[in-house]
Amino acid sequence: MSTRTGEGSHLALARASHNGTDNKALYKEWAANYNADLPADVYIAPMLTAQAALRFFDSSAQSAILDAGCGTGLVAEVLARGGAQAIDGLDLSPAMLAEAGKTGIYQQLFVGDLTRPVDVADERYDIVTCAGTFTHGHVGPAPALREFVRIVKTAGGVVVATIIDAIWESGGFKREIEAMEAEGLVRIVSADIIDYVQARGDHAVLIVLEKLSPAGHGDHKMQSSPAVLPTGQPLLRVRA
Ligand SMILES: C[S@@+](CC[C@H](N)C(=O)[O-])C[C@H]1O[C@@H](n2cnc3c(N)ncnc32)[C@H](O)[C@@H]1O
Repeated sequence: MSTRTGEGSHLALARASHNGTDNKALYKEWAANYNADLPADVYIAPMLTAQAALRFFDSSAQSAILDAGCGTGLVAEVLARGGAQAIDGLDLSPAMLAEAGKTGIYQQLFVGDLTRPVDVADERYDIVTCAGTFTHGHVGPAPALREFVRIVKTAGGVVVATIIDAIWESGGFKREIEAMEAEGLVRIVSADIIDYVQARGDHAVLIVLEKLSPAGHGDHKMQSSPAVLPTGQPLLRVRA
């Protein structure tokens, strides 16, 4: 196992993180070397997240995107290559935000804590992306997932996020998304198992949620079958 992702690495420390205080200290120390430790062929979650988001990106309208837990900007780099320009970034760590600023991609970068309600207006964005931040000791499903839905546009706003598979069920993500769907807040466009940190053989669930109008009709016409795992087992829907 590589020293960049193996035992004693910053990545291993991130997995052992317990709270925001741990995270701030960890990412302050890691920020400058983060991209070198996690090149795109090793840590592919940002690329897959951005590619999924770009399916909903409208270049003529320049969809407004919030990259939540933006880190150093790996998601935004792929979004920008796809033509996105109106990208903001939120993160807990000022050190990671400083690295994100060096990309020159983001319009606004701001400190935010996704374990609490965020200081963002309702329906401010078309798309929220969130890669690598729903992981051990970082951010749980509540209130973050509902906050993402609150800040994307009604009827067509999209949330694209990774959840590391180890906490997908045990951390309450699956349950929260099922509840949001049952309440008519979102349509689950897809929920796929993806490679995450390839050097470690990690996997995550990549979710794409579309915010519904109160009447239950989204703007996007990308209707799809219920989200299904590669094994053929329904991931999010439990059928009798
Ligand atoms: C593994 S990095 C992922 C960064 C980036 N999205 C990527 O994929 O490279 C996790 C990020 O979550 C941020 N983070 C941790 N706890 C957070 C919180 N409570 N609110 C917002 N961001 C948080 C960290 O500062 C870090 O930048």
